[in-house]
Amino acid sequence: MKDINIAIIGVGTVGKSVVKILQTNKDILKARCGVNLVPRIGISRDIDDKELKSLGIPLSTNIDDAFSDPSIEVIVELIGGVELPYEIALRALKSGKAFVTANKAMLAYHRYDLEKQCKNSAIGFEASVCGGIPIIKILKDGLGANHILSLSGIMNGTSNYILTKMSKSGLNFKVALKEAQDLGYAEADPTLDISGGDTAHKLLILASIAYGINAKLEDILVEGIEEISQIDILFAKEFGYVIKLLGIAKKEIHSDEVELRVHPCLISQDKLLAKVDKAMNAISVVGDMVGETVYYGAGAGGAPTASSVVSDILEIARSKTSPMLGYMSSHENTLKLKPIESISSKYYIRLNVTDKPGVLSDIALVFAKYKVSIRTLLQKETWEQDKTHKKDLDTTCIESKPKHATLLLSTHICAELDIQKALNEIEKLICVVCKPYMIRLLD
Ligand code: HSE
Repeated sequence: MKDINIAIIGVGTVGKSVVKILQTNKDILKARCGVNLVPRIGISRDIDDKELKSLGIPLSTNIDDAFSDPSIEVIVELIGGVELPYEIALRALKSGKAFVTANKAMLAYHRYDLEKQCKNSAIGFEASVCGGIPIIKILKDGLGANHILSLSGIMNGTSNYILTKMSKSGLNFKVALKEAQDLGYAEADPTLDISGGDTAHKLLILASIAYGINAKLEDILVEGIEEISQIDILFAKEFGYVIKLLGIAKKEIHSDEVELRVHPCLISQDKLLAKVDKAMNAISVVGDMVGETVYYGAGAGGAPTASSVVSDILEIARSKTSPMLGYMSSHENTLKLKPIESISSKYYIRLNVTDKPGVLSDIALVFAKYKVSIRTLLQKETWEQDKTHKKDLDTTCIESKPKHATLLLSTHICAELDIQKALNEIEKLICVVCKPYMIRLLD
């Protein structure tokens, strides 16, 4: 029986799990693709690592060793970063080797460059979005008969872990982040997780497959969870919502615009996505024929991510190469990004105000001017110091101005441009003591 030799460049948490799957599940893998999948060499900066040595595969610190062995047919890149992985990808494809990666940041920048280069070689990137959920194959193949009307989901395990712990255990933001890091969910630079950047990378990849749109990171709305505080979570609970960081893509069937955005959302606690806790991920995809479908699973962590990496190796071994982003013909199409200002939504707003007569009417007047209709309103007369989330802005405002009140309100659907204008004007009112905080609301 033929062997397919594999080089793994970057043998950290995910890389070690890839080797373990290839070793532990070798019989089932052989049965599924008809060849032996052999981890031939691991490239790592730390080849003295005990756990790595115990895997019993040849190791090297030199990336060239993955390329100099002509028997290696598949290069797996798991080092992270952008430019070096891109160079490795080009080198693999130029030397006729298949390339597999879990690297969403690199793909967010270079997926179309790579697609041009990979006409005769296979490239797999299932693990780049939502860890163990096979969402790439679902969009490329399983839902291939559909126009995708929308996809929205929780695509970052770390931020979902933090939001869950803040909501269910009242945990401090930093403590929850540290826990997520210790569990191996977070990026090397965790600001990518909490700022929405990691979700945006994944959304861009999914949008390429769902719509064939070559959108760029700097052109889409990206907001993170850094400013969410316990008081926002309290409001959400009071009105039957939970707060989740979502990546959202939408396209009406006859429209030539695609809406792409990443931001925290209040979602009704009855929705499936609302029940997705800790580091789990879930994506809802609505197709014009199939209706809504929902995919749930581990979005981060060694074994789940490695499961997706090995599924790509398996597909390559079966010689089922298909166009990288799923389109046979050119998709330099006429679709364009919908401007952020022209989206519409319901909104949740937190305002810190002086507690005196006329304040509510001043604020209501501004909302009325911009056709923003208030749906629910909660006023907290005084607010104890938020002991679990030390966001400077919040605590400064709350601690130093005891006669202030916090207004928590939600709106009916209105235009993003109108709410932005209203909030800019409200921020300038004398009675408003902090920059208003807004979260988009989905129900
Ligand atoms: N840092 C990512 C997350 C890992 O938390 O989801 C998987 O991409």
